[in-house]
Amino acid sequence: MTINLVLKNCKIVKADGILEGNIAVENGKIADIKIAGLPEADEIIDCKGKIVLPGMVDAHVHFREPGLTYKEDFSTGSMSAAFGGVTTILDMPNNKPFIDTQKKFEDKRKLVKTKSYVDYGFHFGVSSENLEEIKKVNAFGYKVYLSDRERITYEDMQKALSMVNGKVFSVHPEDPDLAKGINRPIEAETTAISKVLEMNFYGNSVNFVHSTCMEAVDLVRASSKSVTNMVDVPHLFLNSTHIEKIGAYAKMQPPLRSHENVNELWENLDKIDSIGTDHAPHTIEEKEQEFEIAPPGIPGVETALPLLMNAAYHNRISWEQIVKLYATKPAEIYKIKGKGSIEIGNDADFVIVDRKREWTIKAEYLHSKCGWTPYENWTVRGFVEKVFLRGNPIVDQENLIGKKGLGREMINEKSNNSM
Ligand code: NCD
Ligand code: ZN
Repeated sequence: MTINLVLKNCKIVKADGILEGNIAVENGKIADIKIAGLPEADEIIDCKGKIVLPGMVDAHVHFREPGLTYKEDFSTGSMSAAFGGVTTILDMPNNKPFIDTQKKFEDKRKLVKTKSYVDYGFHFGVSSENLEEIKKVNAFGYKVYLSDRERITYEDMQKALSMVNGKVFSVHPEDPDLAKGINRPIEAETTAISKVLEMNFYGNSVNFVHSTCMEAVDLVRASSKSVTNMVDVPHLFLNSTHIEKIGAYAKMQPPLRSHENVNELWENLDKIDSIGTDHAPHTIEEKEQEFEIAPPGIPGVETALPLLMNAAYHNRISWEQIVKLYATKPAEIYKIKGKGSIEIGNDADFVIVDRKREWTIKAEYLHSKCGWTPYENWTVRGFVEKVFLRGNPIVDQENLIGKKGLGREMINEKSNNSM
């Protein structure tokens, strides 16, 4: 047996520890992990003791296809992901049109089929009008925008839960009566979470995709239901003072919280289940409008891992926690097979990092179509040096090696559509 590729002298980071060794890749999968000894291989890359992470799994991105491709499209979004060391994404359904029927879902699958640089899956939109449709599609996640009563009510979310089982409902938890316009207090979030936790899940699970504060995290932890939380990257690296500094560029929903609130999240990382970016690009023109009318949302799929690596450099988070929160757990929560961890049999998705390299984030270096970042001129330590997708090199330093269309749609085989 000849192995296609060996990465030697790696510091392999797993959610539960760091291992020094060599990784053998065959047919796009991890064939072996050895502490010593190398098999014959077509190609050997000497990592020289560098940190090797699994490709990150970002379960919350908005790549804007169809209908809003002036902000981002699947190619620019997934290219941005690749440069950020993110090799698996789940895309959100708030497109134009909103993806809430089987027909729209299938059309979207066809539309993006040849466009991605990384592997991807989809969220399906749950809306009051189309509850019957959720039984017909096999998505990784079912997105519920509780903040938008026009789209869905608590009652209809409960109905939706009763119609399927074994599904993951990704819930945007803001109570529509308490979150209004730009006034969106923490109580809006805790109220929505409490109401959902009172529902009967009927064998489904719930992931609160924007948990911004410890009050929300604690409610989830206290529940005996199948429920998890996901904290967005902006809620860890930005706070409400950034709204004064950069205006609508720091506007998102749920909003950025106080500095104290952000610190509390950092002090309790062990209580958080997962991290996602909520990469939500809008154009500079849109963000230059008055704060009240500018659309909410912050891009970040390319900057998340560098920011987290910088936090690791400053001992605010461990490398194992980065892998756990931003790769292993998201793959586990959404049942994405073969992703999120360097294990024999998993896909050979890797990120080789230069943890000491210092660089300054600038929008001009990034690949999102939106052309801006709230982290402009932030200097970070930690650089994504090489990225592999199923054994294929896709990024080497500043160069894109991967081809458009190499990214595959992942199919959620196990999910059960009927009761
Ligand atoms: C998101 C967007 O722009 O699509 N905006 C945001 O502020 N988070 C929508 C969303 O995720 O709710
Ligand atoms: Zn979002």
